[in-house]
Amino acid sequence: MATLIHNVTLVNVRSSNQLLRGKDLAVLPCLEKAYLIIEGNVVADYGKMKYLKHDPKSFAFHFDAEGRFILPSWCDSHTHLVFAGSRENEFVDSIKGLSYADIAAKGGGILASAKKLNDTSEDDLFAQSYTRLRELMQLGTGAIEIKSGYGLTLEGELKILRVIQRLKATVSIPVKSTFLGAHAIPAEFKDNREGYIKLIIEKMLPAIVKENLADYIDVFCEEGFYSPEETERICIAGKQYGLKAKIHANQLSLSGGVQSGVRVGAISVDHLETMDEKTITTLAQSDTIGTLLPTAAFFLRMPLQPARSLIEAGCAIALASDYNPGSSPSGNMNFVVALSCIQMSMSPEEAINAATINGAHAMEMQNEVGSLAIGKKANLILTRHIPSLAYLPYSFGTNLIEKVMVNGEWLQ
Ligand code: NIG
Ligand code: FE
Repeated sequence: MATLIHNVTLVNVRSSNQLLRGKDLAVLPCLEKAYLIIEGNVVADYGKMKYLKHDPKSFAFHFDAEGRFILPSWCDSHTHLVFAGSRENEFVDSIKGLSYADIAAKGGGILASAKKLNDTSEDDLFAQSYTRLRELMQLGTGAIEIKSGYGLTLEGELKILRVIQRLKATVSIPVKSTFLGAHAIPAEFKDNREGYIKLIIEKMLPAIVKENLADYIDVFCEEGFYSPEETERICIAGKQYGLKAKIHANQLSLSGGVQSGVRVGAISVDHLETMDEKTITTLAQSDTIGTLLPTAAFFLRMPLQPARSLIEAGCAIALASDYNPGSSPSGNMNFVVALSCIQMSMSPEEAINAATINGAHAMEMQNEVGSLAIGKKANLILTRHIPSLAYLPYSFGTNLIEKVMVNGEWLQ
């Protein structure tokens, strides 16, 4: 049963799925006064209105979308959406002046979320996570990556990854899953880091791979968390089980995480709040994507990522939400795009490309999602009546999405 949307502006129409870097990131191909035909779960045809051969009435569903835009859904390549409860108590402490380190010392931070998660049943965790994911789908997210990392025990990590597996089977958007056992050092291993790293490599990894629960491996490479050497060791172990790396790098310090990521051939190095020229050059000369998480920097009141320097140096950058209870308790990609324009001086075209086609690359799904092309999944955002594309990030905070299509069907 075919669907026709006509008199619409199509955004990010491209036949090549190439990763965008440098000046190419600013080129966002659009087709005005156009039509789009969806058949089954894919885009079947599109073109200028003057070339529309069929009578709109011959379609099972047809919609005159004058003054509106159709975008490919957001591709959010970095989230920690499976977590238990929330941490707004720490948020209030931070308003009163406590630092991330002070909060962690008081028993907060990642370890607080890990305690809650280990005390929550798998069914309850699934119910909480499903509610979050459905909300993001309504906000236009049409492909997502979700990490473990709030278990920090064999059972806890398996619980999260099984919940991600259930989400994959339940929702109609593509979901990628990442094992982040190396998110923090659990309290019981405080004086025995080596013991925990061995647990990750020798016990967790084989158990996870046996159940086919992960697509990628991740490490939080940061002072006080995992060193570059430990990061590489864990990523190489993951690689031996067929898991490519996507790592947390250069969030709070010049941790060496970017260099480690490039050395192990990571798909992406994510965060990048703290960069210097040498690190930017290393990233620019590699095939690794730099994924910027501006809402995390915003929420932690840190300077945002140096997007302009990264783009000008020729790095391939993506945008993602980092949805998690500690540093980005929002997974709203519309706000990520707006913040990137407002505070990182990215143009609307650059931000939309980084949050769609380049985000798809950061999950190796560029042939399925991330742009409007014949044969690609019909995961789309239909905007309300808006004066221009720049109006989307300009009027940040207003929901300008009229409807979302997932797999060829309007989301209810
Ligand atoms: O990506 N940086 C490490 N992990 C998360 C924050 C974790 C937390 O505070 O719960 C992040 O920002
Ligand atoms: Fe993260």
